[in-house]
Amino acid sequence: NWTMESFVDKEIERIRVMVGPTAQVIGAVSGGVDSTIAASIMSKAIGSRFHAVLVDNGVMRLNECNEVKKRLTEKLGINLTVIDAADLFLGRLKGVSDPEKKRKIIGNTFIEVFEKEGERIELEIEEDIKKGTSGNRGKIEFLLQGTLYPDVIESVSFKGPSATIKTHHNVGGLLENMKLKLIEPLRELFKDEVRAIGTLMNIDEELVWRHPFPGPGIAIRVLGEVTPTQVEIARKADYIYIEEIRKAGLYRQISQAYAALLPVKAVGVMGDARTYEQVIALRAVTTTDFMTADWFPMPYEILKKISNRIINEVRGVNRVVYDISSKPPATIEWE
Ligand code: XMP
Repeated sequence: NWTMESFVDKEIERIRVMVGPTAQVIGAVSGGVDSTIAASIMSKAIGSRFHAVLVDNGVMRLNECNEVKKRLTEKLGINLTVIDAADLFLGRLKGVSDPEKKRKIIGNTFIEVFEKEGERIELEIEEDIKKGTSGNRGKIEFLLQGTLYPDVIESVSFKGPSATIKTHHNVGGLLENMKLKLIEPLRELFKDEVRAIGTLMNIDEELVWRHPFPGPGIAIRVLGEVTPTQVEIARKADYIYIEEIRKAGLYRQISQAYAALLPVKAVGVMGDARTYEQVIALRAVTTTDFMTADWFPMPYEILKKISNRIINEVRGVNRVVYDISSKPPATIEWE
């Protein structure tokens, strides 16, 4: 598609002009489609003067942090720093069960960690400038964000249960404190256009079609208190669930799927013994805009396989249920 191709080239050119020969750019990446494609365009435009930052908040999916790191550095050549802040996030989440409080803690901690990394890079550059080893690297003057057109509208008008979506991405403090200017290469695009651009840029199909993943991650999929043990259980169950959906060739038909760990215990039986363990709820929805959604009619054989695997392979779980609620009145996330 000629138009899409020219979009990337034009955007790269526009960024080069805007950033100039020495200024640097910082941006957070999550491993999702939007931030990865925005980062890739930025990296093509200004190389290592772009600093991508991935914050490991301890509530990403199983192996996700390493996979994102590999993809961004090895495949896409992006100058990336991964910050392991899992203990910090999980420490602050200790004892907190309220969903909105969890979101606030994660959002604020994210901004704090990201800002600190920005300051660290700034100091490093200042030192290099003093020593005369900075080359063409000057100050950080811009912040990259993978905002899409619907995000632009939503942040103005949407007041649903996910109005807090923006709190996670709200780096207003960073913009103010560091006096950064915003660059949003995707702000005029819809999701399908971003996917088409990703395909054109030879970004893995797996990433291009990835389901959205909320900023607060597994923290809002472990209902009630988030402990490292609970996160581990939810992670393993979710991994098996998604693996089986992919194997069955259903991933692209579903808009979003995940496993939630419910804060209840149920009685079960294993061999001669009675068990008293937790319940996993499987959620899969189809939607075009995430404002309304239908539950996905998952084939029984697939459900059977997933249920057997989760109960056999994930310690601490003795029951699996499938969520058959539409949005509205339910939401896509349980919290
Ligand atoms: P709900 O649960 O409101 O979710 O039907 C709609 C979409 O928004 C995502 N979601 C979030 N994304 N931070 C995010 O970045 C959040 O706090 C958050 N809450 C919900 C959800 O995964 C779904 O795609």
